[in-house]
Amino acid sequence: MTIGIGLLGLGTVGSGVAAILASPQGRHPLVGDLVLERVAVRDLQRPRPLTLPPERLTTDPEAVIDDPKVDIVVEVMGGLEPARSLILRAIAAGKPVVTANKAVIARYGQEIAAAAASQGVYVLIEAAVGGGIPIIEPIKQSLGGNRIQRVSGIINGTTNYILSRMADEGAAYADVLADAQRLGYAEADPAADVQGGDAADKIAILAGLAYGGPVERAGIATEGIDRLEARDVAYAAQLGFVVKLLAVAERVQDDGPSGPPDGVALDVRVHPTLLPKHHPLAGVHGVNNAILVEGDPVGQVMFFGPGAGAGPTASAVVADILNIAGIRQVGGPQAGLDPLLAASSWRHCALVDGSLSRHRNYVRLSTRDEAGVIGRIGTCFGAAEVSIQSIVQLDAREGEAEIVVITHEVREDRFREALAAIEALEGVERVAACLRTL
Ligand code: NAP
Ligand code: HSE
Repeated sequence: MTIGIGLLGLGTVGSGVAAILASPQGRHPLVGDLVLERVAVRDLQRPRPLTLPPERLTTDPEAVIDDPKVDIVVEVMGGLEPARSLILRAIAAGKPVVTANKAVIARYGQEIAAAAASQGVYVLIEAAVGGGIPIIEPIKQSLGGNRIQRVSGIINGTTNYILSRMADEGAAYADVLADAQRLGYAEADPAADVQGGDAADKIAILAGLAYGGPVERAGIATEGIDRLEARDVAYAAQLGFVVKLLAVAERVQDDGPSGPPDGVALDVRVHPTLLPKHHPLAGVHGVNNAILVEGDPVGQVMFFGPGAGAGPTASAVVADILNIAGIRQVGGPQAGLDPLLAASSWRHCALVDGSLSRHRNYVRLSTRDEAGVIGRIGTCFGAAEVSIQSIVQLDAREGEAEIVVITHEVREDRFREALAAIEALEGVERVAACLRTL
């Protein structure tokens, strides 16, 4: 029995999916049952790496969904609209959906999941996070018996590629970003990558699955790498750290009396972070992603692999198609959806006020190079109960100095109070950079 696939989009990811379907030899036998029936694109004249019969291509995505030969709809066009409406249209037509669109799932995941549950169809999203890394199904299924403490990771391939090449080769930010776009890693608007929004979408999705309830996307504190200066990457290296764009979702209160009723309180954030060189995530370079899941009783589990690009992302999309195809081949779902594969939410996730969270910091201060400045800075930190791990002067010329401070773990509001006092000090020009440190 063949299964008709309708593809919405034939760009980087869509072309990768089409290439797998066109060469089933040596893959799981179910791949041979998948037939690419219709494909929606924006521009019929654009040259494509794979030749498809012209009658299969259309500029009308709704025609793909409505085609009776299409059994599974694969949305890889990106953007919020019309992608969201097309996913809902496919669900309303009773057709399962596979999507790589983290922007839509992070914002409209609840609406889509509710529609899918009421229609009894699956919406699978393995490709939405971590590119080729299996992480969605492991969190939903394989780690389901754990109480998850923290999910942290490098989950944007473009920024990790940029940071790796800046650190290794001293390459210029703009040149490396252009390479990432050419290689198909970046979003259509790369601001989503470099400003941290793409990673925030992904950590919202991971946290929602790991903690069992939707996470408010707009509440995630997000900082990208677009304002990161090469000198901070270099200073971090001198001090034994690697700078990575990290996404973190952490349980800060146990469920029960101290936490929100029937819920869990989470600290969810995205920011450039100094990782000690021996940290498991510090060795993740180039377009690779890695996600560290910490749970009770499993301990630490790390998932690693290529986080973007045509082949790896298509690998995840096809895995989802095969999951659905396998269920269709045995005649299901007749008795409702499998609650693990469909992903359900069972409690409320509340985001905590980030000013009360505790962490280490890296601060670079531009100062005058004169007696007493370091002492006054130390006094301000002490007055705010911010304990300093190290304070060094790293560059001094023509009466100016750069002072870098690494703090111990401190509360964010105390740290901000100290910075405000330091900025007003005689001899301190400005707080030039401020980064989280693990
Ligand atoms: P892309 O290269 O820009 O491809 C988008 C495709 O969708 C193109 O074929 C485009 O047609 C088509 N399209 C866009 N709007 C359309 C419309 N209104 N009607 C018909 N066709 C339309 O994007 P991509 O990199 O493959 O990414 C697709 C999705 O996968 C996004 O949600 C992205 O976030 C996600 N994703 C991407 C990666 C990656 O590494 N690239 C990894 C994971 C997830 P034309 O070709 O005619 O322009
Ligand atoms: N632009 C995304 C990234 C694609 O660089 O990680 C994979 O989701």
